[in-house]
Amino acid sequence: MLRAVIISPDVELSTRLNEIISRSGRVGVTKTIDRYLVSYELERFLRANAPQTVFLSIEQLPHAIEVLQGVEHYLPGCQVVAVDRGCDPAVLLDLMHLGVREYLAFPFDINAFMATVSRLEELLERKPAQVDTTDNVFAFLPSKAGAGTSTIALNAAVAAANQPDNHTLLMDLDLNSGLIGFMLKLENVYTIYEAAENSNKLDEHIWPQLVANVSKLDVLPAGRLDPQTRIDPIQMRQLIGFARRFYRAICIDLSGNMEKFSLEVMQEARKIFLVCTPEIPTLHLARQKFHLLSGMDLGDRVAVLLNRSQKRPLITTQQIEQLLGVPVYMEFSNDYRGVHNALTAGREVEIDTELGRQFQALGYAMMERSQPGRLAASKKKFLEYFSVNASTTTELTKA
Ligand SMILES: Nc1ncnc2c1ncn2[C@@H]1O[C@H](COP(=O)(O)OP(=O)(O)OP(=O)(O)O)[C@@H](O)[C@H]1O
Ligand SMILES: [Mg+2]
Repeated sequence: MLRAVIISPDVELSTRLNEIISRSGRVGVTKTIDRYLVSYELERFLRANAPQTVFLSIEQLPHAIEVLQGVEHYLPGCQVVAVDRGCDPAVLLDLMHLGVREYLAFPFDINAFMATVSRLEELLERKPAQVDTTDNVFAFLPSKAGAGTSTIALNAAVAAANQPDNHTLLMDLDLNSGLIGFMLKLENVYTIYEAAENSNKLDEHIWPQLVANVSKLDVLPAGRLDPQTRIDPIQMRQLIGFARRFYRAICIDLSGNMEKFSLEVMQEARKIFLVCTPEIPTLHLARQKFHLLSGMDLGDRVAVLLNRSQKRPLITTQQIEQLLGVPVYMEFSNDYRGVHNALTAGREVEIDTELGRQFQALGYAMMERSQPGRLAASKKKFLEYFSVNASTTTELTKA
């Protein structure tokens, strides 16, 4: 079934087109709109619907050409079928120059329509429409409750969102004790439940209403306690699939209970951050979870985050790595006051603290970007080191 949208200010024309489309049984229309969209609106529409084919009325040619160029730009490979009431050879020639190969004139003929669909199918088979989606999906998995997973997920998501051109979503999937909404002081907002309920009909209008916006970050909190409502793994996959088209990064805070939908999230994730603390029970559970994930062929995605690490630890990082059988990816200082202050203010940990800098570093590592200023800072340290040594040498020579 070809996935298509119709863009036509002529409502009568799109009704007739929809009729012949349903008769054909070979095309599924996800959306019909009655105006020409431009710039951001068009981009959002195309990302949300990800059509393989756009049936475009060319009634107002300059506007139609703008849409055509937008489709080429945002969805390379997506095929455009021009539709019109008349059949002006000069217009047809213009469209050919613009790369449009298919044209349907009203009244529509079922045989001509079927032939068009066959050609489109063949073309798309050879060169599929490319939807620009992100693979930056990150699951944050507690080894044990209270290890600090939500704190890390929230701060890493904010650090990712603050990077240039890095639209980021944070979803709280800890349905029993999700705290992200509380941590950000969100009130009267929609939650993951509403998003899951609507997962099969999400579009560019529903989505902005569902997510809460905190500075540059979009958030879907866990919301009310509701033991009756379940989230289905399929809903989860649809939700992530949709979000992949809208965001550069998607961070998902999990409960650690390994529910079916959590496993689905981890299947979708590029990295699974397993959060632990340097304590025996937590490390024991971290090892169990790592083995479970390895058994599901997800072991190579796991990156261990060691939270609340101390300067003089009872258990060293090396011992932790030996125990878990995986390297510690990153460590986060124990800074109760810093985390407490952030909670009270309903925002991220201060950027100018050691813990704040560690969250920044995680945000950049997640996006595989180098952190601005780090090179400059290390160069400065290097030079400082040398100037100290230079003066020391001078002193020594003098003596
Ligand atoms: N690096 C840290 N330094 C000091 N305290 C921390 C740190 N990280 C988290 N905490 C504190 O630990 C507690 C648990 O944190 P958080 O809610 O983030 O953990 P969690 O693993 O998500 O817990 P839950 O199982 O309830 O979801 C909170 O009181 C938080 O303020
Ligand atoms: Mg939590």
